[in-house]
Amino acid sequence: MIKLAIQKSGRLTDDSLELMRECGLDFNKSGTLKSPAFNFPLEFLFLRDDDIPAYVADGVADIGIVGENVLVEAEAHSAHIKTHVDIAERLGFSRCRLSLAIPKEQVYGGVQSLQGKRIATSFPHILQTYLADKGVVADIHEISGSVEIAPSIGLADAICDIVSSGSTLMSNGLKEAEIIYRSEAVMIQGKHLTSEQIKVLDDLRFRIHAVSRAKKTKYIVLNAPTSSLDRILAILPGIKSPTVTPLADKGWSAVHSVVPEDTFWEIIGRLRSEGAQGILVLPIEKMIV
Ligand code: PRP
Ligand code: ZN
Repeated sequence: MIKLAIQKSGRLTDDSLELMRECGLDFNKSGTLKSPAFNFPLEFLFLRDDDIPAYVADGVADIGIVGENVLVEAEAHSAHIKTHVDIAERLGFSRCRLSLAIPKEQVYGGVQSLQGKRIATSFPHILQTYLADKGVVADIHEISGSVEIAPSIGLADAICDIVSSGSTLMSNGLKEAEIIYRSEAVMIQGKHLTSEQIKVLDDLRFRIHAVSRAKKTKYIVLNAPTSSLDRILAILPGIKSPTVTPLADKGWSAVHSVVPEDTFWEIIGRLRSEGAQGILVLPIEKMIV
């Protein structure tokens, strides 16, 4: 049995839960703090994201999903967290940036213009490190939530906060001035896990890999003139090698293969110029190699 801490409500919540569903876990997310998976030895704990690294370090939770920014800040704050928590998996979702932002009507004069200014943030260590590197001394106000309202209530001249879509900044009359850190969701694990818990985590990681590999890949089926089959096969990577089936029409074969999402259109273009026709592209749900 393993306890997984997930952000109670926020940017990471939906994507984290969706990943667990794609990994085959069946559960209900009620309003409660805890909720068991019905078909996997795992219990969800729904917590404030900023608290998750400390809970994992202390063994209250065994693993967690947080923004890397939250982990880095927590590690800078506490040597105990730094020595008791590891990254198990980079998850590739909830990409965001930690940025300096100022009231939108102001002209941004570079990071030097923040010299002596008051900056509100929940990430004082990351901000402090960044400013020190630029030779800027500012008055950092650590606040734990609703950082974006600090300038309008006269608490700060600027803020340093997570920006994803940018809508929080916009609706608070702020604009992004400087990106200081880029982050994505990571799965973290405590150092205290038993060998049985490590096995459960390995099973979960195996499923995460299958899901994320599938997302980066498409399944394609096409008809190829037999005369250009060699050239078409040379374009296709496949898991091992493409599957080729002769069609009733002797001059043609059907080819099945998988192609990476990032070079997908380039591959399609090359296949078409070699005479491929009737190209079907299908999503892959899971991919186990
Ligand atoms: C962050 C940040 C903003 C929001 C920005 O919150 O504090 O509120 O995301 O996203 P947007 O650019 O898409 O509007 P988070 O989910 O980390 O919750 P928390 O600040 O309450 O921990
Ligand atoms: Zn947070």
